[in-house]
Amino acid sequence: MEERRCAVVTGGNKGIGFEICRQLALNGIEVVLTARNESRGLEAIEKLNAFGIPNVVFHQLDIKNSTSIANLSKFIETRFKKLDILVNNAAENGVVYVDDKRFKDGGGFGTQFGAIQAGLGCFTNVRDIVKAINRLLMSCTVGFVKCTEALVPLLQFSKTPRIVNVSSVYGDLHWFRNDELKQELLDIENLTEERIDEIIQWFLKDFKAAKLHENGWPLTPSAYKVSKAALNAYTRLMARKFQNILVNAVHPGCVLIDMTSNTGIVTAEEGAKAPVMAALLPDDGPSGAYFNKMEIAPFMTT
Ligand SMILES: NC(=O)c1ccc[n+]([C@@H]2O[C@H](COP(=O)([O-])OP(=O)(O)OC[C@H]3O[C@@H](n4cnc5c(N)ncnc54)[C@H](OP(=O)(O)O)[C@@H]3O)[C@@H](O)[C@H]2O)c1
Repeated sequence: MEERRCAVVTGGNKGIGFEICRQLALNGIEVVLTARNESRGLEAIEKLNAFGIPNVVFHQLDIKNSTSIANLSKFIETRFKKLDILVNNAAENGVVYVDDKRFKDGGGFGTQFGAIQAGLGCFTNVRDIVKAINRLLMSCTVGFVKCTEALVPLLQFSKTPRIVNVSSVYGDLHWFRNDELKQELLDIENLTEERIDEIIQWFLKDFKAAKLHENGWPLTPSAYKVSKAALNAYTRLMARKFQNILVNAVHPGCVLIDMTSNTGIVTAEEGAKAPVMAALLPDDGPSGAYFNKMEIAPFMTT
């Protein structure tokens, strides 16, 4: 009898994460839908059960909380003895919308033009922005790395281990204007996790000192772009470190969802397709790659 595979999806209670859970379950995977808020997670499970999907189970996970990560790891070890797929989907966008209407009227994130217009018009001079970007960087970098490290030992028991890091076109290094930094982030042979952490701290320092333009950082939404570029770099380092695991980063498309103030182009169902494809890659699939939706793409476009 074929062994059943199991997956963990972070931030599975809504949006793209919820759809990833649904589609993986429809592919016969045992899915652990995680959410930081227990009632939101259980509600999502009820919804999936109502769709006639029984092979989903809830477990609480806040990727910024070490105890929560350790509890999830213990749960998987006890219940499944291994893990086949980890989808790192949970993230915040680090954006505080000063003028949500103007953002939407500008086209939101749905069009390049709209995003730039809205970015300039709506995200600047925000009082709570430093708090928001700290939250974002904590979840998209520190939390995501800690969660992955805690679950890798269980992935090592799988015959087909996969890690999918949900990234974004905003992680493209072409948004950076500091050529030296771009090269450093591209030079995966010499890059280290410690150096990525230093780069994030450097970004935060420059953000607080209003030196983003001067030092060639990506502009609005700058923290989100830096966090996704860091996530892409971590993806490549993880692929190098864990050679038996296929580790890839995936841009799902611009999805109509809370994170984009409902200004995306495609549905969550459509957006989940590429992360699910990367989760179900055959053994001879790529590792350390970046998929722009269903296609492999460069980490820096020209
Ligand atoms: N939407 C797009 O157009 C788009 C485009 C490119 C990439 N992405 C990426 O796709 C992924 C999913 O985004 P989405 O659009 O589906 O956003 P979303 O609807 O806002 O969902 C984000 C999910 O992450 C969870 N989350 C946030 N911080 C967390 C934490 N510390 N611990 C655990 N869960 C946490 C949220 O939980 P709560 O419900 O508790 O807040 C929610 O379940 C993200 O990585 C995003 O960057 C999205």
